[in-house]
Amino acid sequence: MRIIVTENYQEMSIKAAKVIASQITLKPDSILGLATGSTPVGMYKELINMYKNRELDFSTVKTFNLDEYYGLSEENDQSYHNFMRENLFVHINVKKENINIPNGNVLDIETECENYERMIRESGGIDIQVLGIGCNGHIGFNEPNINFEASTHLVNLTQDTIEANSRFFSSIEEVPTKAISMGIKTIMQSKKILLLANGEAKADVVYEMIKGKILPEVPASILQLHNDVTIVLDRESAAKLKDNVV
Ligand code: PGA
Repeated sequence: MRIIVTENYQEMSIKAAKVIASQITLKPDSILGLATGSTPVGMYKELINMYKNRELDFSTVKTFNLDEYYGLSEENDQSYHNFMRENLFVHINVKKENINIPNGNVLDIETECENYERMIRESGGIDIQVLGIGCNGHIGFNEPNINFEASTHLVNLTQDTIEANSRFFSSIEEVPTKAISMGIKTIMQSKKILLLANGEAKADVVYEMIKGKILPEVPASILQLHNDVTIVLDRESAAKLKDNVV
């Protein structure tokens, strides 16, 4: 694992954006795995700036998002489709047909999940997968005690996650209780992984992910077994790590 500790959220965002920019520059038809949540918003802003300054071209990039709430339409304000539109896609020149996000509003979930996996495979596989991490150790919506062998599937969100995500909804009752998420196996098949974390609330789980045992209770700990992981942290989220950091 390559661990980069930056001073603050903005530096974390700039560093992470540079990793993505270098991926796209070296391989303009890169397959990007993207994440939602508060953590990557600053990185997306930096990528938008690079695009506006003509430093980056997304015209041949393809994207696959990690997850989507089950039961929300693409147009719903709280859907991850909407999050990605607002925080990245409408601001850059990625082609609509190159954007992939699980459809959370289908009846046949199994077929949706199989199709998503097939599309990832047929694209040649994800070159770099962006991840945040939940305070409970989840990556994507792979909640604690996940089966490490799962591919894209329907998940039940834990109470922790529902509470954490209720900040985006007007009441906790509105937070969906299920989601379609890439599985750990899908994530682990990505060629590179870029995980971001910031803030003191993440310090314990960041430590567990990097230094702890590899356990289904901390889904992100499986990343210790991936051979190309870059973790970009701010000082606060790195507070429990004492060595092996640059
Ligand atoms: P956050 O979420 O970026 O909003 O903290 C991260 C996650 O739950 O994966």
